[in-house]
Amino acid sequence: MPNLTTVIIGGSGAMGSAIAQHIAAAGHDVILIGRDQGRLNDAHQRTGATQTIAADFGDASEAKRVLDELGVIDHLVVATSAGPVRASSIPATVPSEFQRAHGRLWTSFNAVHFAPDHVRPGGSVTLISGSSGRRPGIGFGVWTSLHGSIEALARAATIELAPIRVNVVSPGGIGMQPDRQLIERRGTGDDIGLAVASLIANPAITGAVLDVDSGERLGTWPT
Ligand SMILES: NC(=O)c1ccc[n+]([C@@H]2O[C@H](COP(=O)([O-])OP(=O)(O)OC[C@H]3O[C@@H](n4cnc5c(N)ncnc54)[C@H](OP(=O)(O)O)[C@@H]3O)[C@@H](O)[C@H]2O)c1
Repeated sequence: MPNLTTVIIGGSGAMGSAIAQHIAAAGHDVILIGRDQGRLNDAHQRTGATQTIAADFGDASEAKRVLDELGVIDHLVVATSAGPVRASSIPATVPSEFQRAHGRLWTSFNAVHFAPDHVRPGGSVTLISGSSGRRPGIGFGVWTSLHGSIEALARAATIELAPIRVNVVSPGGIGMQPDRQLIERRGTGDDIGLAVASLIANPAITGAVLDVDSGERLGTWPT
């Protein structure tokens, strides 16, 4: 039987490459997508991925071109980032910064938009949100908007794309010194990789949001 094929958008990033390692270890053919070929080459060596493709998945025509080249796949994961975005409140946020931060919404949209033609029934799309999506904190309005939007997009896509499964992993505190979490742990990309791999592997899970945040969404946020 041929290996399962999993495509990871943002597969050259910190979380994306940790996800890739877990999925490759489970025996999948893993394809990494990112814009910078140098970064992809590094990740290719580290992760056991089978292939890399340089493309801007925030651009709908590029996303379509890449998926058309790949044909039918088993799983699609979106682990992109809009680069450093300053945490700030809605009133204090420069509008162009707000727009740029939501770049991750566009890569997520393109994934669920094109999935029906490219992900097999019973396969999956996994998006990454963040703990602020359901737990606003003063000064984190941009992130609450972005992460809440990604989770709402996934809820809508879950019923519209079935029998393709749609799930979300919601990270919090990854790489951070614990301050507002319930568990004294500096989260790692590996924690996220484990969660994504388990959602992909379980054929009964769709419409789930799996919190991998050391309890950050329930902890006490600084004001
Ligand atoms: N740390 C936390 O606790 C936490 C909590 C919630 C959410 N998050 C979010 O999780 C996301 C992933 O984090 P990370 O640390 O893995 O980020 P990262 O290391 O910056 O990786 C981002 C990846 O996305 C790729 N990418 C960005 N835009 C793209 C596009 N338009 N098309 C294709 N690939 C694109 C990047 O490669 P190229 O730049 O070469 O394209 C890179 O592979 C971030 O948005 C972060 O804010 C983090």
